[in-house]
Amino acid sequence: MENQTSPPATQPLRVAVLGSTGSIGTQTLDVIAAHPDRFSAVALAAARNATLLAEQAARFKPLLVCLGEGRVGGTGIEDALSGPEGLIEIATHPDVDLVVVATTGAAGWEPTLAAISAGKQVALANKEALVMAGSVIAVEARRRGIPLRPVDSEHSAIWQCIQGEGVGDSLLAAPKGVRKLILTASGGPFRNTPREQMEKVTPGQALAHPTWNMGAKITIDSATLMNKGLEVIEAHWLFDMPYEKLEVVVHPQSIVHSMIEFEDGSTKAQLGVPDMRVPIQYALGYPDHLPYADLPQMDWTQAFTLEFEPPDLDRFPCLGLAWEAGRKGGTYPAVLSAADEEAVRAFLDEKIDFYGIPRLVERALGAHEPITEPDLQTIREIDRDTRARVREWTRTQGSALIR
Ligand SMILES: NC(=O)c1ccc[n+]([C@@H]2O[C@H](COP(=O)([O-])OP(=O)(O)OC[C@H]3O[C@@H](n4cnc5c(N)ncnc54)[C@H](OP(=O)(O)O)[C@@H]3O)[C@@H](O)[C@H]2O)c1
Repeated sequence: MENQTSPPATQPLRVAVLGSTGSIGTQTLDVIAAHPDRFSAVALAAARNATLLAEQAARFKPLLVCLGEGRVGGTGIEDALSGPEGLIEIATHPDVDLVVVATTGAAGWEPTLAAISAGKQVALANKEALVMAGSVIAVEARRRGIPLRPVDSEHSAIWQCIQGEGVGDSLLAAPKGVRKLILTASGGPFRNTPREQMEKVTPGQALAHPTWNMGAKITIDSATLMNKGLEVIEAHWLFDMPYEKLEVVVHPQSIVHSMIEFEDGSTKAQLGVPDMRVPIQYALGYPDHLPYADLPQMDWTQAFTLEFEPPDLDRFPCLGLAWEAGRKGGTYPAVLSAADEEAVRAFLDEKIDFYGIPRLVERALGAHEPITEPDLQTIREIDRDTRARVREWTRTQGSALIR
């Protein structure tokens, strides 16, 4: 169980930021810089962006830095850690209280698990971690009584809505009397684009998200609605909710971040200007809603409209594929995540077209021989094998995937 009281001002929470040079990572450092009495950045990690990592290290003076994929030599960062082992060392270091996991894709799940096993608090932005290894991570977090703090705005919204609804501090437990969790989706840049035009969209068009400014992988996932599918699986694990109690609704204004509907039809929602610093700050400062002058405010005195509509599963097949993989469980979600990451990369490299992404994912799921209760090694192997398979299909049949 988490301590309900805020840490004393003399002891700032010691935060490690994995993925400090990315969209979530840099905004996390903004939040930390805004509250020096509450938080200090004691460890930073990036993949390759040594220049920005060195600037961040000079500003925040962390105890540890790590370049997960790049070469440390010649970067000007002394004593930097490297590789996946460096991320694990940070995630488990005795001088770290809370680990923000804001790396992209598959790089996040092993440090997440290591941090939980070392008894650290975890603020989880990396949704792929629970998609790939939800069964292992959720079991370990429950066993140790460590609630994962969601950073994703939708899950943060649900977390805020379930306060006082019988779950105490504990996530990873179903709130009482809830009929449905309703995740909102902006609908992405192609919400109203006809299918014939969507067949031809370029990476540049898909990267132009209407409401959120994010890293490339999640932006493409938002354009295909795979992002919402990954979030459905994430919500299943975070809130111990069966898939039939999860719903997705398109809400283009991105003001309502998500909702919970109770058995009596009463519904609670969390609303606000779309700005990731709000859920990041809540994850770091929980249970406090801290002041932060830089955050934009809603102007409730102005007339405005909030729209809601169902998602179009024909134009956005990735959402249905994710839902199906989640329901089937076992190793299917790990295959979904690995295939999607490779397919998104192939699309960004212009090797396949936009609908090549769901085609590759569907094919990878279809070719998979499932394992019901995977252990760590199995998840690693499934990830590696699925990626190899998708890369091979792209290399040998890429043009066939471009219709
Ligand atoms: N952006 C959002 O608004 C948002 C919202 C909700 C959830 N999320 C989730 O948060 C995660 C991060 O998203 P993002 O938009 O911040 O991505 P991003 O801008 O692409 O940043 C990714 C970060 O992870 C680092 N990284 C990648 N692989 C790594 C590795 N092997 N070792 C160490 N560091 C590694 C990158 O370092 P380099 O800079 O060196 O490449 C970068 O710092 C994703 O899982 C995403 O789904 C993001």
